[in-house]
Amino acid sequence: MKETFQVAGGARLAGSVRVDGAKNSVLKLMAAALLAEGTTTLTNCPEILDVPYMRSVLEGLGCVVQIDGPTVTITTPAELKADADFDAVRQFRASVAVLGPLTARCGRAVVALPGGDAIGSRPLDMHQTGLEKLGATTRIQHGAVVAEVDELRGAKIRLDFPSVGATENILTAAVLAKGRTVLDNAAREPEIIDLCDMLISMGAQIDGAGTSTITIDGVDKLEPTEHEVIGDRIVAGTWAYAAAMTRGDITVAGIAPRHLHLALEKIKFAGADVETYESGFRVRMDGRPTAVDYQTLPFPGFPTDLQPMAIGISTIAEGTSVITENVFESRFRFVDEMQRLGADATVDGHHVVIRGIEQLSSTGVWSSDIRAGAGLVLAGLVADDQTTVHDVFHIDRGYPNFVENLQRLGADIERVQVEP
Ligand code: UD1
Repeated sequence: MKETFQVAGGARLAGSVRVDGAKNSVLKLMAAALLAEGTTTLTNCPEILDVPYMRSVLEGLGCVVQIDGPTVTITTPAELKADADFDAVRQFRASVAVLGPLTARCGRAVVALPGGDAIGSRPLDMHQTGLEKLGATTRIQHGAVVAEVDELRGAKIRLDFPSVGATENILTAAVLAKGRTVLDNAAREPEIIDLCDMLISMGAQIDGAGTSTITIDGVDKLEPTEHEVIGDRIVAGTWAYAAAMTRGDITVAGIAPRHLHLALEKIKFAGADVETYESGFRVRMDGRPTAVDYQTLPFPGFPTDLQPMAIGISTIAEGTSVITENVFESRFRFVDEMQRLGADATVDGHHVVIRGIEQLSSTGVWSSDIRAGAGLVLAGLVADDQTTVHDVFHIDRGYPNFVENLQRLGADIERVQVEP
């Protein structure tokens, strides 16, 4: 049975919502549990499809994984298998996070080239170069990336681009390498800091997390740990845009507002009233949003994962916005769906020019990735009638209890089973 969301336009969303742990953190933390023999416990985990997907990957490597609501326990054996299960890995991109830990623990890793969202080409060259600098040989063979090494040795590595995934795989290999690794042009995302915090609590020696230069002094062995996953800034940002677009009033808890600084600033420029607290924020909007320009960039720039929401608000804003995508090349597939909803949008290379209109016009639309799917739901909330969002399994990969939370905030939305 396929599922769709039926969304009625017109509701003003109001109330409070709490975000769970970050998808883009929990999956990497689960992979990092491979680094220590014994039982690691992760709390504040989101109940999304990607977590059981990652469980399958880890189980295939010999771990025992239990998911008990927001708590995930991973028991890692002394001897791991080095080959990640092809079918499990291909389901989602974050599975590539096992590459660094497996190389460090087994001296060999075979990880199928991952699938995941259709948001553009996502090569692994920087992951491979990083591991090679640490002494490994890597190659692509039979649809998998293969890394092999006798002993990892610390090195100076400079990334061409601050890739989140490459930074993570280099970190999780270097923590068990001999000697010092200095990683320059490292990603600075909050999820990198979260991973480093967990690795440090396992006994790793890491300095500079959250800056462009991370220094890692390798240790012989890491210990299992207990760690709380940071809140999901992208889900929190989605709620912020839901408030601004529906002229609503939403208070979001469970997130450090500094992780969303630029997105909240942009929403303020669009006319919303934004209050921040220690671990949350409130967004209130009265009138029609004003057009604002956006450029997606690595953190602390505006997140590419909120680009569909930036496009969404621009389609109904007063004035013209230019949105520039600098991180993923094919992320404008979402624009085609927004045009089906009547948006006045023109793509030119990695820019899209949007002239705001008063109201979107409901129809059937198709999610192409997690964030585009959520962006279409927000668009449906401000369209004139019933919008059907198809392929909602994408949304379920990243947004826990999305429909229930939207209903609690006053949205008229239903999950509907349809014949394939
Ligand atoms: C992660 C997030 C994703 C987010 C992205 C950027 C997860 C599971 N996903 O993806 O939601 O949108 O960060 O914040 O955490 N690149 C290369 N070669 C490489 C690696 C990357 O060319 O070896 C390119 C990619 O094609 C892309 C850019 O670098 O154009 C950024 O990718 P990266 O930061 O690695 O994103 P992910 O870790 O895949």
